[in-house]
Amino acid sequence: MGSSPGAGHGPGADVASASSAARGRCGTCTWSCASPSRRRARRLRGRARWSCAARAGAAAELRLDAHPSLAVSRAALLPPRPFASYGSALHIALPQPPRAGQLLTLLIDYEAGEGPGVCWLSPEQTAGKQKPYMYTQGQAVLNRSFFPCFDTPSVKFTYSATVKVPEGFTAVMSATSWEKQKDNTFVFKMSQPIPSYLIALVVGDIVSADVGPRSRVWAEPCLIEAAKKEYDGVIEEFLVVGEKLFGPYVWGRYDILFMPPSFPFGGMENPCLTFVTPCLLAGDRSLVDVIIHEISHSWFGNLVTNATWGEFWLNEGFTMYAQRRITTEVYGLPYTCLEAATGRALLRQHMDATGEDHPLNKLRVVIEPGINPDDTYNETPYEKGYCFVSYLAHLVGNQSKFDAFLQAYVNRFKFQSITADDTLGFFLEYFPELKEKGVDSIPGFEFDRWLNTPGWPPYLPDLSPGQQLMRPADELAELWAADSLNMEAIEAVDITGWRTYQLVYFLDQVLQKSPLPEGNLKRLSKMYPKISKAQNAELRLRWCQIILKNNLEAEYSKVKDFLHSQGKQKYTLPLYRAMWGGSEATRALAMETFSATAPQLHVNVQNYVKKILGLAAAEA
Ligand code: BES
Ligand code: ZN
Repeated sequence: MGSSPGAGHGPGADVASASSAARGRCGTCTWSCASPSRRRARRLRGRARWSCAARAGAAAELRLDAHPSLAVSRAALLPPRPFASYGSALHIALPQPPRAGQLLTLLIDYEAGEGPGVCWLSPEQTAGKQKPYMYTQGQAVLNRSFFPCFDTPSVKFTYSATVKVPEGFTAVMSATSWEKQKDNTFVFKMSQPIPSYLIALVVGDIVSADVGPRSRVWAEPCLIEAAKKEYDGVIEEFLVVGEKLFGPYVWGRYDILFMPPSFPFGGMENPCLTFVTPCLLAGDRSLVDVIIHEISHSWFGNLVTNATWGEFWLNEGFTMYAQRRITTEVYGLPYTCLEAATGRALLRQHMDATGEDHPLNKLRVVIEPGINPDDTYNETPYEKGYCFVSYLAHLVGNQSKFDAFLQAYVNRFKFQSITADDTLGFFLEYFPELKEKGVDSIPGFEFDRWLNTPGWPPYLPDLSPGQQLMRPADELAELWAADSLNMEAIEAVDITGWRTYQLVYFLDQVLQKSPLPEGNLKRLSKMYPKISKAQNAELRLRWCQIILKNNLEAEYSKVKDFLHSQGKQKYTLPLYRAMWGGSEATRALAMETFSATAPQLHVNVQNYVKKILGLAAAEA
């Protein structure tokens, strides 16, 4: 336990944690809570017990991450001190400086309130509208408002938890085992070391149904049929292919929990129990790429973890690559390239909006003290990260050799937290012939440039195997962008058999060419109800973006309806940006929609929308 936060200096230092943690340190957290507290609504009473070994030269004080919403009643020998806008430090004085290796056990009684990591939903905010619901979302730095902890991905620990809930509620957690005991008490145990951000709890009226030998879906009773139907019999294949490619699946079960509509992410890779948006219930498995993505985190992110949030691309870039490897094995290369092309379009849009040279458009992000790591979230770690991993594969030049490398990489760094230096060092060690050739310093493609220079990826993987699926969509978009429409040619194209991602790709092209010549969009809308009346969230997002870019006032209500129906950050923010960047009318629509929906949005999303609309600072 040194005096500075995180692990000292250099890329391994985590400036986003106030704790006296050190990279690679392990501990155990035993933790119990009663939820919600009987005395007061929306309070989670808890007791955290931390055991950790002291480092040589440790001071007579231990610091944990906490949050102003966390009221510590015991163990806080000193009151919490502010650390950053997104947390505070809980200082615990020790009787004397501990000896190196001495085992310390702390007992901390606390009550978590309405902090950003703990979301309390009223019955109206659930799908069933009958009972309240609470869930936690830890990534990136929110779990410090859930329980006091070393809230840095550089520290891994096992945990166990006892959760007592009111009659008629069920608790689930990201744990390798769980058991229901008497008195509505649930006991959980995570037997593999994980970072704090992967601890997650849900208490609600939820039920489950089996969908595979080691998988079940969880959802509110009114959604369970749809949830089972969406993924029955398909999950196991993804796990088997993942194991074949990347090595053993160490987490035991892989379950999926369908969250209430306001859940801010498509998916969150909480180990053993992925949390997903109910938007995935498209009825046709078309959004299963999110599940494959979260499964891929079982190796990249959850086993091999970024040591700090500045190295987030190690989690997401490798996961995008792994996701597309699994997709290639299961659905083939053309489909995978099509999906990857939609990813590339997202990166293009992001870089156009921010400017390619924006400092967040480097893979290794410099997060200054005081900056909330969650505010650095964008497409670059995902899609530029994917390009860099693809570039490494290209250097190797042989898919099975690169697959073997990925498996060796997971095996080498499993249960550890690492930086890109560790990754790239291991790559060069694994392929000595490449090291000898100096592949890390090929002009224009230097590893250092990939990591530390903002901008468009210097290497893009070849997506031409997807041409057979993309070309018809490209050609159709071209037809609709013409000044005078060639209806004969348009009518000759039958889109009824197109896959969802073909339509998504088509809409991305239309959006890029928008605004279309006057009148074209109205006709397009009429001609393709499959698009303009779609229930699929990915299609609805693009259609809404097109409506706004073309000022198609007749369909503004669709934007409003979509924003009322769900609260995913990646859908919500682009639409508010588009409305705010548009006309008087779209600005008014933005204000009206936000004032009606704000209470049901996750607090982070609320703050980002406020920032877009110029309504008060998000976070200082
Ligand atoms: N781990 C992320 C979600 C996340 C990132 C939460 C940063 C909090 C902070 C998750 O794995 C993810 O990337 N989800 C994507 C899925 C998509 C890329 C298939 C999402 O939510 O859209
Ligand atoms: Zn991810």
